[in-house]
Amino acid sequence: MNASCVCFSRTCILILSIIFPCVDCFRKDLFSTKTSYHWIYDLDQHVPQDEYMKTEISGQSCQAIYTSALIRHGARYPSLKDIRSMSELHGKLLRYKVDKKLNFLTNWKNPYPEAKEKGLVKLGEVEQYHLGLRIRRKLFSLFENNLGNVKFVSSSTSRTKDSLQAFYKGFNGNVDEAKNVQYGIDDEILRFHTKCKRFLESVENNKTHTKEYRKFKSESHAVNLTAAVAKRLEVDDLNITTGDLKLLYFLCPFEIIISNKEDWCHILTDEEKEIMEYHYDLKQYWKKAYGHSVIPKMACPMVKKLFSDLDNAIKNQKQEERDPSVGSFFFGHVETLAPVYAALGLFNDTVPLLAKNFEQQRNRLFRASHILPFSANIVLILYDCHSNHDAGGDNRFAMKLYVNEKVKKFPGCKEDACWYDEVRERVSSHVDHCEFDRFCGMTDHAHTAHEEL
Ligand SMILES: *[C@@H]1O[C@H](CO)[C@@H](O)[C@H](O)[C@H]1NC(C)=O
Ligand SMILES: *[C@@H]1O[C@H](CO)[C@@H](O)[C@H](O)[C@H]1NC(C)=O
Ligand SMILES: *[C@@H]1O[C@H](CO)[C@@H](O)[C@H](O)[C@H]1NC(C)=O
Ligand SMILES: *[C@@H]1O[C@H](CO)[C@@H](O)[C@H](O)[C@H]1NC(C)=O
Repeated sequence: MNASCVCFSRTCILILSIIFPCVDCFRKDLFSTKTSYHWIYDLDQHVPQDEYMKTEISGQSCQAIYTSALIRHGARYPSLKDIRSMSELHGKLLRYKVDKKLNFLTNWKNPYPEAKEKGLVKLGEVEQYHLGLRIRRKLFSLFENNLGNVKFVSSSTSRTKDSLQAFYKGFNGNVDEAKNVQYGIDDEILRFHTKCKRFLESVENNKTHTKEYRKFKSESHAVNLTAAVAKRLEVDDLNITTGDLKLLYFLCPFEIIISNKEDWCHILTDEEKEIMEYHYDLKQYWKKAYGHSVIPKMACPMVKKLFSDLDNAIKNQKQEERDPSVGSFFFGHVETLAPVYAALGLFNDTVPLLAKNFEQQRNRLFRASHILPFSANIVLILYDCHSNHDAGGDNRFAMKLYVNEKVKKFPGCKEDACWYDEVRERVSSHVDHCEFDRFCGMTDHAHTAHEEL
């Protein structure tokens, strides 16, 4: 028996239901960077007002004084390339005898307009709106009477700008004013990867660099998967390519996110989706995070911005400067967040992700579905612990890090909250010695960056 409680106003009723064996169930937290935030964040959990306002460190109580956050845009439409490949795959499957489970293919029409490629979708807006609402609530006292003292910055794409607007609607709680949110556009800090020639040469446009990702296609997990899927679709004589598998994997989340249907979701089993998930984690890991030392280094403009905003808040608190800001929110991409994770040393598995270690890495830290879904977010909160300082302690300011609204211990720190000076020391090479132009070299027209996710 399964018991749950539903409340209408102040009356609660207990609902008892018998659990049926689930026939068509499948997991939704396995879709790599195409996972909706709502599939990894439990929306039913209670959000206490001012949840993030206070923290303790070494027995001292501290009060939040500033927050800076980096947020990936919300769920979006597929890219133009994917939209077209989806139609091609559909046509290819229709020409073959396919399993009854795929009867829907006869009537399926590609529902994704090319003109909307990569545009924010409704669910993406909803993700951002609710995130704005929750962050406001969790730091209610910080923002109260201070809504004008929060900075918003987006990258230049429409999906990030639209995410910012949707977030602000929830954050501000006033739909009309949301139209007038003032914000900056800054690709230097939010799309640094497009401007770093050294990265483009050594990683982005270097095929050798993604050898683990490509090698995985000939590992037995992937080979068996291809064979199993061909058999299931009864298309043995059709060569299922890795490109086809990619679409069979990603058509599912797009369909749920955009059309609220799940016809494409029953072609791969959960175990097979986990194999695809690993395949794409290999790509993200090597190209966007821990694969090359250039990646964390090129993130320095963003890391520097996040921490210099905290530095300024400290100066302000010590009355060395007068800047009434209480927060800054930045809206970027997987290509912004993943290199920042690497710069901060987060989700850094002791053993690297390799084509041959899928089994060993089943519990890996670097799992895009959990750390880089749509609307993924890194929130830094600065705390003033003046009672510690007043009592003669060396430290006055502390900080806490939240990833996707879960507290994340900063590498090297003993408690969830960490003295700011310790963290600041650890990121000093990124903040105080960020020589992006010298390190990256200037981009020229011969080098083009791929588009962001
Ligand atoms: C390409 O990647 C490989 C493997 O990471 C590396 O050895 C090689 O130096 C890279 N090439 C360039 C031009 O950076
Ligand atoms: C792949 O299939 C072969 C042949 O059936 C089998 O021996 C092997 O264990 C399978 N590999 C995996 C990883 O399932
Ligand atoms: C599939 O690949 C096999 C071996 O590479 C080839 O003999 C066969 O003609 C291909 N089938 C199709 C439909 O392309
Ligand atoms: C990631 O972890 C490896 C192995 O523990 C370590 O050698 C490396 O320095 C770490 N990288 C970063 C950027 O923290």
